[in-house]
Amino acid sequence: MKISDTIKSLRKQINDHNYQYYVLDNPIISDNEYDKLLKELELIEKKYPKFIVPESPTQRIGAQPIESFGTVTHRITMMSLANAMSEDELKAFDKRIKKKLNSAAEIEYVIEPKLDGLAVELIYENGKFVNGSTRGDGNAGEDITSNLKTIKGVPLILRNDIISLPDLVEVRGEVFIRKEDFELLNTKRLQSNKQPFANARNAAAGSLRQLDPKITAKRSLSIYCYQAGVVDGINLNNHSEFLERLKGWGLPVNPEVKIVKGIEKAMQFHKKLETIRNEFPYEIDGSVIKVNSLSIRNELGVRSRSPRWAIAGKFKAQQVTTIINDIFASVGRTGAITPVAKLEPVEVGGVIVTNATLHNQDEIDRKDIRIGDTVIIERSGDVIPKVIKVIQEKRTEDAKVYHLPDHCPECNNQLMRPENEVVFRCPNYSCPAIIKGDIKHFVSKNALDMDGLGEKLIDQLVNERIIKKVDDLFRIKKNQLVKLERMGNKSADNIIDSINNSKLTTFSRFIYALGIRYVGEHTSKILESAFKGNFDSFLEATFEDLESIEEIGPIVAQSIIEFWNDKSNKHIANNCFELGIKIERNNEIVDQILTGKTFVFTGSLEKINRKEAKEIVERQGGRASNSVSKNTDYVVAGPGSGTKLEKAKILGINIINEDEFEKLVNKG
Ligand code: IVH
Repeated sequence: MKISDTIKSLRKQINDHNYQYYVLDNPIISDNEYDKLLKELELIEKKYPKFIVPESPTQRIGAQPIESFGTVTHRITMMSLANAMSEDELKAFDKRIKKKLNSAAEIEYVIEPKLDGLAVELIYENGKFVNGSTRGDGNAGEDITSNLKTIKGVPLILRNDIISLPDLVEVRGEVFIRKEDFELLNTKRLQSNKQPFANARNAAAGSLRQLDPKITAKRSLSIYCYQAGVVDGINLNNHSEFLERLKGWGLPVNPEVKIVKGIEKAMQFHKKLETIRNEFPYEIDGSVIKVNSLSIRNELGVRSRSPRWAIAGKFKAQQVTTIINDIFASVGRTGAITPVAKLEPVEVGGVIVTNATLHNQDEIDRKDIRIGDTVIIERSGDVIPKVIKVIQEKRTEDAKVYHLPDHCPECNNQLMRPENEVVFRCPNYSCPAIIKGDIKHFVSKNALDMDGLGEKLIDQLVNERIIKKVDDLFRIKKNQLVKLERMGNKSADNIIDSINNSKLTTFSRFIYALGIRYVGEHTSKILESAFKGNFDSFLEATFEDLESIEEIGPIVAQSIIEFWNDKSNKHIANNCFELGIKIERNNEIVDQILTGKTFVFTGSLEKINRKEAKEIVERQGGRASNSVSKNTDYVVAGPGSGTKLEKAKILGINIINEDEFEKLVNKG
């Protein structure tokens, strides 16, 4: 046999075994035999490197570590799901759908286990895996292609033997870690003196966000696909058909998917999943109930962050019994003092829990929680576990009543309890715990995203009095860093780079980073849109201006006003700008006109060439395609247009000329 044929045959065998294992869940050879095939291919490719192609199964861990992740704009927004916490809420979901459709007919639903991992998008062009990204804010995520390639369940090349393959396939799915792999990973981390991951979700997310794909490769991640992005030129009637296609292409789909008619049956299956949830080899935190028919989905449409045709039915939190070994007071970013119970470590739904929040003194008193008590604790997903109740019968004589200290455990300042609030706060703005909390928030991933500034380093920087306020971050000098314990020259350089890189940011990231009370990520984005990214007008906004913005209520408006009334906050923001913070023109706002719009060019263009035209569309959030379909939004037709123009006319698509195209993009 020719070498090229041997290579081809080995690759096919390996890919077929992957398909058997990850899609059909039916391996037909042992792991050993599989490894042998892979080794053989590796050896031959090593000898004949000219035959190596990126989609070869040997190339999963090829890439070198990178400095930071690039950004990928999703052609179609990656939405989130609304939650239903009870059966009533599931019924209400069904009712809303029927009302909107103006029909009493029972709806066909598909129910899938809700995996607790990280949503990703995989893009295949001509069957080859070309790009993979995280969900990010839904519009754009991080380019984690090299890391996703290391996941063996992610095919590097799609199968086209059963069903034909479109030129472009975008698939969304969940990357997760199986319980067994999670435990193994945490055991290894403990052995090498590393902090174990708090839960399986964090482990999956942390593993995917490694700058070195070799680390990701060691983490045993899994994937199940459940949703389409852009898929060119296929006509489907429903979601279940799509899932079948995915399997045919070699993409893993959760086998526990059920199709039912009517919400009652959907709820039955949801309950069944809940009773057997602990039998799954991975964590699930609910079920996802989706309308099966794609035309009904279309009719129902989407809200700002979630579709109307799907809902996440959450499971009740899991409870176990354990003992409170101690209680201590922790100081949060806002100075709030929270009592935390140190528990006898216990497993809840596959995770070892050691701490639980007791919220505040009122809660401790109301539930009469004492040190030494046997208690029932509850954990749901990645929420901090909480104490539900004390088992009074098990209380021993030496159980000790606990009172929060009246002085801050960090800075010893007298604590205060603001009127109408249940929590005590440390009023000292220079309390190291508050400063550390502020800075940790400021540098965090969804705020200014300063890579490499971990908790330990921030503690050191504050303890050494190198930084006292967030703006001091921009004043750090390399020579201050190298003096710190365990800080090398290279690491110091990296940190300075990462601080500098964070300076070019967006309006929403910056105001989120400032940590204004009640202004989370979503609210920051609303404000960004409302103020068109103009920071000065945001600073000058009155209570009325703020309250008149849709989705901003009086509490948020008041909190923003109070934040700016405090001169030191204005001072910090100004300092940040003086020290180099720049607010980037935000594509989302300016380019909204073309976001999600697909263009097809046909005939000749006179002012610009076609490549430039396509680039303009893509820069403004749109997509340029070569073929006309019902998903096309605009056909830009010039002289000499042929069949594409004809097809567009038949499909009733907007047809515009070059001048109209120019006007449209100039608006953006
Ligand atoms: S569908 C527009 N299906 O849940 C609908 N999501 O809370 C897109 N998730 O971001 C999601 N299992 O990360 C869907 N079977 C499943 C899922 C699932 C887990 C996650 C996903 C999503 C989040 C929403």
